[in-house]
Amino acid sequence: MAEAKSITKADLKRIDSIIADYREQRWALIPLLHKLQEALGYIPPEAIPRIARGLGLFPSQVQGVITFYTQFYTTPRGKNVVRVCRGTACHVRGGKTILKLVKQNLGVEEGETTPDFEYTLETVACIGVCALAPNMVINTTTYGQLNPKKVARLFSGKD
Ligand code: FES
Repeated sequence: MAEAKSITKADLKRIDSIIADYREQRWALIPLLHKLQEALGYIPPEAIPRIARGLGLFPSQVQGVITFYTQFYTTPRGKNVVRVCRGTACHVRGGKTILKLVKQNLGVEEGETTPDFEYTLETVACIGVCALAPNMVINTTTYGQLNPKKVARLFSGKD
């Protein structure tokens, strides 16, 4: 699993300049969080008191919104996000094995990121292409009718 990345001075400067665009605009908390996440890939905990100060909120209010919305991440994620389907159709067609193989290939468990921040592994309830089960999505590309060979091929250039 990836170690927590420490935040740099440049990151803090970037954070402050994004917050400056929304100064005192309490309504703008969600758009601001999206913008920060777009810029840094996640919302570092160090940003929370700065956001609160900038918008005139309590840090607990900022934290509450981040926790409530699952699309916000407080830890760095990999450049590539791999989502293996654990829905019923995929499960009955070997999805469990696919997930096991992906874990082996990446060397991480569900919800973890590789130490080089190349990959984050997640599972999803259904990708919506059950006819092609078992499936997974890497970033925005869907890979269907997976088997051990296909999985090996997809991650072969990984190291
Ligand atoms: S169950 Fe996997 S795509 Fe629907």
